[in-house]
Amino acid sequence: MVRIVRATQAEIDEAVTALRDGELVAFPTETVYGLGANAQNPAAVHKIFEAKGRPTTHPVIVHLDSPKYLHRWVREVPPAAQALGERFWPGPLTLVMPRAANVHDIVTGGQDTVAIRVPAHPMAQQLLTAFGGGIAAPSANRYGRLSPTRAEHVRDELGDAVRVVLDGGESQVGLESTIVACDATGVRLLRPGAVTLAQLRQVVGEVQLGASGDVPRVPGSTPTHYAPATPMIIVPADEIDTRAEDASEGGRRIAVLAQRLPLKTYPSVTWINAGRRPDAFAHDLYANLRTLDTAGCEQILVQEVPTDDEKWDAIRDRLLRGAAASELDSADLSTTGALGRI
Ligand code: TXA
Ligand code: MG
Repeated sequence: MVRIVRATQAEIDEAVTALRDGELVAFPTETVYGLGANAQNPAAVHKIFEAKGRPTTHPVIVHLDSPKYLHRWVREVPPAAQALGERFWPGPLTLVMPRAANVHDIVTGGQDTVAIRVPAHPMAQQLLTAFGGGIAAPSANRYGRLSPTRAEHVRDELGDAVRVVLDGGESQVGLESTIVACDATGVRLLRPGAVTLAQLRQVVGEVQLGASGDVPRVPGSTPTHYAPATPMIIVPADEIDTRAEDASEGGRRIAVLAQRLPLKTYPSVTWINAGRRPDAFAHDLYANLRTLDTAGCEQILVQEVPTDDEKWDAIRDRLLRGAAASELDSADLSTTGALGRI
């Protein structure tokens, strides 16, 4: 596993200068790479939306190096958020709280809340501390696409739109942070991640599931997210071999993301065995899907993941959304074509 922990002082200086100039900087976190801008500069944050092709109504997470400066961004810290921050920060958790008055609308999507995360990756910490302010950052991918877990994914997808890409090697977790909203009505899990529901409940007791309101507050929760361009379907574990064999009949090229080796060799099947350990599966998930997406296959078959361990929940969530996006695409094939959608 390649993991580069610290940047040189020259790299950090260059990134901080870019942020102060209102430019974009991609940086590693332990979940996925972020596409960062100075959260106090609305014009800079606007560039994030342009680079991603993302609607400006969708809010972005503000990253801080420490909860010490929370009060600059948050009107009040609900007791549950306080407890969760103390337990899981720095780490793969984002907390949505009532916003402070001076937080820009482009950051919050005009909502009355702001999402805050204190990442643990040493290079993210280095950057945040040197910058000395909040960095607004979504995942550093084009809107609706797979999140990047390596610096080269960012360069491939966003190219010149980003002034600096800090290379921290492979993101350790590999899936986006757990998002939890805390307000007067209670605690709500908006997006599953490496911090699990059981872990959250251990700290705060009751946790509701899913978004509460009518607005799509977490666009990552719409089914068009986390999708490879190649149509992807989920297949029951005991059918993965037969389905791969059938689908590849006549030399059709088929990709498989499984948790074990194939029972035999299928000539036109590209098979990745991502193993049975959820942590390792998550770590490699987006890189594996990128590999399969560019393997020239007509379809990606993904072996369904176990239901007996909640560590698979965030993985299942992303796979289901990726597969649902494929369904939407194929319903739309006559007009756009599945491969033409970015
Ligand atoms: O792991 C992560 O969370 C990565 C790294 C870079 O920190 N970031 C990330 O950002 O995944 P993004 O924008 O791809 O997903 C963040 C999600 C979005 O779906 C956004 O709608 C939601 O957080 N979000 C941001 N502010 C919010 C708010 N005030 N209320 C509800 N959801 C919010
Ligand atoms: Mg994202």
